[in-house]
Amino acid sequence: MGEPKTNELMEKIVSLCKRRGFIYQSSEIYGGINGFWDYGPLGAELKRNVKELWWNTMTRMRDDVVGLEATIIMAPEIWKASGHVETFADMMVECPISKKRFRADQIEAQSGIVFHYSGAVRSDAVQAIISDIFEDDVTKAAQFSKSVSEGEKVVKEMRELALSVLQNETDPGYEELADKLEALVHKPEESEEIFSVLLSSGKPPESAHKIAKQFYEQRGIKKPILVNDGKEKVENTTRYNPENGALLTEPRPFNLMFKTNVGPLESEDSVAYLRPETAQAIFAQFKNVLETSRQRVPFGIAQIGKAFRNEVTPRNFTFRSREFEQMELEFFIKPDEAIEAITGSVAKPGEGHPGEPQTNWGWETWHKYWVEERIRFYESIGLPRTTLVEYWQKPDELAHYARATVDILFKFPFSKRDEKGELTGEELEGIAARSDFDLSQHERFSGKPMGVFDEELRAAWGKLDDAKKTELWQRYRDARYKYLTKVNVSPEKAEKAAKENADGLAKGQYIPHVIEPSAGVDRLILALICNAYYEDQMPDEKGKMETRVVLKFHPRVAPVKVGILPLLKNKPDLVKKALEIRDTLRPNMNVFYDDAGAIGRRYRRQDEAGTPFCVTVDFETLEGAKEGPLAGQKDTVTLRYRDDGKQDRVKMADLLALLMEKIR
Ligand code: GAP
Repeated sequence: MGEPKTNELMEKIVSLCKRRGFIYQSSEIYGGINGFWDYGPLGAELKRNVKELWWNTMTRMRDDVVGLEATIIMAPEIWKASGHVETFADMMVECPISKKRFRADQIEAQSGIVFHYSGAVRSDAVQAIISDIFEDDVTKAAQFSKSVSEGEKVVKEMRELALSVLQNETDPGYEELADKLEALVHKPEESEEIFSVLLSSGKPPESAHKIAKQFYEQRGIKKPILVNDGKEKVENTTRYNPENGALLTEPRPFNLMFKTNVGPLESEDSVAYLRPETAQAIFAQFKNVLETSRQRVPFGIAQIGKAFRNEVTPRNFTFRSREFEQMELEFFIKPDEAIEAITGSVAKPGEGHPGEPQTNWGWETWHKYWVEERIRFYESIGLPRTTLVEYWQKPDELAHYARATVDILFKFPFSKRDEKGELTGEELEGIAARSDFDLSQHERFSGKPMGVFDEELRAAWGKLDDAKKTELWQRYRDARYKYLTKVNVSPEKAEKAAKENADGLAKGQYIPHVIEPSAGVDRLILALICNAYYEDQMPDEKGKMETRVVLKFHPRVAPVKVGILPLLKNKPDLVKKALEIRDTLRPNMNVFYDDAGAIGRRYRRQDEAGTPFCVTVDFETLEGAKEGPLAGQKDTVTLRYRDDGKQDRVKMADLLALLMEKIR
């Protein structure tokens, strides 16, 4: 990856993306909208290439995966069955002052002194009491109110203050003043709300008081006088706004689904959701696809499409957006008990890629297979394995239905660093072994059977000895019972249903299990851009070294494959040849014709766009090559390579085949 690997690098990347038309802020002319991004001309091409490569790899190049393109808005019951309505939430906290929301788990731990306040009173109310009590003694009244305002005295301390002004407790007026001040704190129009501010080291207490005053002012207390309630030292707390120190609200769940209404009436009955993932449509259409595609388990259904999540804190450029695209595969497999009945045993995965799929693979080998396939895909589009991390989720991190999940992380410049200073990476894709949870849920909620009949299993079961039948029956029953009771089916009903399911298995019926590789398009685009960004030294036209910015995309994903550059735009013969080349190449790849400016400047422009090749039509094209193996031959051009700036002279007639070979 390009150096330097810091946030400075991220800033350069964000600025390049805008400058060169990869990514713009959505609705920028209206000040933007947080968490939404648009792809410009180069970004749109890059994205299209990535999606097409994924689609080809996952569907067209395989016999066992088919595609689907479902709607974004679906029946709301789908999201009840999937658990999204109830549990697709982040714990969120809010700053009472700035109203900014944070994800509770994303607040950085801080240490410092916490100032506590148990309320505030209006300064004009205090003034009124002072005038009342000291009506005959203007000097004392002024002295008292000056001490109150100057010293930011709080009501509890005012007793002491009153005493110092009045000399002693027997002074007439002391008790009255003290009682009135005390009573003031408990008046309904004053605030008794408890609040705290964390003061990081080096800041004066006044800055904590200032934040506290804002808090009480927002509660209608004009010119508040704070009621201090002590202070304490705290360490590694995540309860305060890192930006202003204000105590955050208690964490509360915040559902991430965007809600809308379908039809002309806005009521609870018309509520629908923008899909937060593409996966559920695949489960909902599982039976239709199975019946119309002539596929049999094991097989997969792939989908690319938009997903929406009302993220509490969109961040890191496009990494966490509110509208994004996913590329998801649901690969349906037989339960391990069926595999064991058919093949006698279930293969266990070893190290590395398990190779071509085999009939004795259970969920573990299929899972490993998809992890390795997906890493190969990333390598094939230019993300070296060294930039990726294969993270196996720990048991306590797994979703309750998942048997295993591997996250493929990319080492983004904004990723955290470990103790050794290495980037730890952020999730590009999750590959989850989701058991039969999803189809089972849709079966329960829709009342439509989601199981399949497997003739091979039925035949194999008949040949098992009784001990094996009992063992497999029992294991399948137990797994089904566990699922059913987890989703709150009563033990009696679960017992009955689990037994029926196990009886079904013996007749060749089961609900398929699933392995789900789920990737984000936008995160991948960002990873490709970060990985491609380099600043290096190249000689300019006069041979002087200069810094160039270059995006070293793999030719497969590069938005423009070849730049076509006539040396001079006012030489019709050169232009004619260049246009001829453009028209030959254009039906096969994205080309960019550029005749404006010095040739060196044009190369730099293509370098920044990540164009891997440039073809230059020069006078040797017309007059014959001066040297090299093609010396004397006409209709040759220079082919320049982006990464090292080297050039070859090639025949125009060979260009198409040569470039096709390089971009394939
Ligand atoms: N169906 C499973 C699923 O949706 P996920 O881990 O929530 O799993 C899958 O999402 C992928 O979608 C992630 O690995 C990531 O690449 C992408 N993704 C999720 N939330 C995103 C967001 N707010 N912005 C951009 N990409 C996101």
